[in-house]
Amino acid sequence: MTIDDIFSKMGSHMVQGIMTHEQLMNCYLFLGLKGYAKCQEYHYISETKSYVNFCRYKANHFGSLVKSTDIVNPQIIPATWYGSTRESVNAKTRMEAMAAALDEWIRWEESALSLYQESYKALLDLGDIATADFVNEFILDAEEELTFARNEKLRKTSIGFDIVSVMEEQQDWKKKYKKLLKK
Ligand SMILES: [Fe+2]
Repeated sequence: MTIDDIFSKMGSHMVQGIMTHEQLMNCYLFLGLKGYAKCQEYHYISETKSYVNFCRYKANHFGSLVKSTDIVNPQIIPATWYGSTRESVNAKTRMEAMAAALDEWIRWEESALSLYQESYKALLDLGDIATADFVNEFILDAEEELTFARNEKLRKTSIGFDIVSVMEEQQDWKKKYKKLLKK
């Protein structure tokens, strides 16, 4: 793999990751879960910033652009939701949607972590330790996010996605991620 291939693959994945967080944010907004929506908004914004840094690194260190290819729009929001309003969502649908959104988040971060680690190894094979070090930051971020999402899945599964607990924590989540967004 060349440097261009590595950056192209990572760049495409990052753009799809940003789209994934945007859809998850809208999914939670539709479900009326404002705290979880704020969390996804935070990842959407912070990963957009990371992508900007990623492109800047390529331009500054290699003098060239990141060519993002094969970007597939994630289809996380069920098509039927577009024709309805959030008032029509019943408790069962809300619970299933919460579980599906968490699974999607976990699946996505697993694929990100795997690709970034592959890229890291490829960079080491090319002898580009400095760029591998730069990519390592993305690995650590993906690993931290994945661990958080997995713990959330475990926590919610253990309380059976209890809607009272879920609604109670929305305000705290909202406050936490609003603060992080300001930073
Ligand atoms: Fe993410």
